[in-house]
Amino acid sequence: MEVERIQALAAFGLDTLPAQFVRPSHERPENSPAVEGVTVPVISLSQPHHALIREIHEACRDWGFFLVTDHGIPPELIGQLQEAGREFFRLPQEEKEKYANDPPKGNFEGYGTKMTKNHDEKVEWVDYFFHFMHPSGKVRHEIWPQHPPSYREVTEEYNKETLKVTEVLLELISEGLGLEKNVLKASLGGDQMELEMKINLYPPCPQPQLALGVEPHTDMSAVTILVPNDVPGLQVWKDGNWFAADYLPNALFCHVGDQIEVLSNGKYKSVLHRSLVNKEKTRMSWAVFVAPPHEALIGPLPELINDQNPVKYSTKTFAEFRHRKFNKLPQ
Ligand code: OGA
Ligand code: NI
Repeated sequence: MEVERIQALAAFGLDTLPAQFVRPSHERPENSPAVEGVTVPVISLSQPHHALIREIHEACRDWGFFLVTDHGIPPELIGQLQEAGREFFRLPQEEKEKYANDPPKGNFEGYGTKMTKNHDEKVEWVDYFFHFMHPSGKVRHEIWPQHPPSYREVTEEYNKETLKVTEVLLELISEGLGLEKNVLKASLGGDQMELEMKINLYPPCPQPQLALGVEPHTDMSAVTILVPNDVPGLQVWKDGNWFAADYLPNALFCHVGDQIEVLSNGKYKSVLHRSLVNKEKTRMSWAVFVAPPHEALIGPLPELINDQNPVKYSTKTFAEFRHRKFNKLPQ
């Protein structure tokens, strides 16, 4: 199937944004600006344990979002990961197309551009590359970018490091919920817990105030750990307003996703977020989605249920959750 890539379209140097990208008035960044002067929580992993648990708890409860510093992932590795992603998107268009995915056929991995299902839905100003990173049994190295040659080694190293940080975060979030520290990881499949890489590429956009990179959504994951390049654009929703998550070098941008919302029975909410695009600069981000395997049953943790906190979410497999979310069916 022919898919129009945003990067190829942007290369024409258009003056006006094609109609399929023009968001309805109320969605446009110009009509829904972020609150100024408020910053999202920034949490150092190197502080005393009890303070750390409290900060994580408050950020999950109040924002569903926070930045993490002092996480131990070497800045050089983040730099190499970003360079490898940039190199891939610099390939000639026909080279990239060899990796094209096909979501309607169930092939989600590879190079993609989201297409809409309904005629009146607007298209997002973003191309991406998506693939599994963990566990090794789910990884298909043959569909990872072959270029640059360093892609595989750098991404495998980043996977190892991200997994370590994920395990620490899941322990801290478990403790913040008053649970034993191993509970969340165990609920997400233990060693079968999945890490998926999505590299987002947002080319320069002729009229950024009318467009969105990704539209408001919550992630289906348990948590998402994202590193952006230095072009700002990510915004999170809190108490009826958008807040910009400004760039902080080498910080990890951590999102609470739908599965933590369900497991915590709504104590922590999956954060609604969106990304804006830029007139002159290419924005990129590297999102790692941490998710249970498809067959895992996810529902509110029994430890968190009592007379004051009755069950708010139904228990179902992650596969069923995904099916309902993709098809916009009630959960
Ligand atoms: C996503 C996402 C935001 C960003 O890929 O799910 O929300 O900053 N990306 O690129
Ligand atoms: Ni997202």
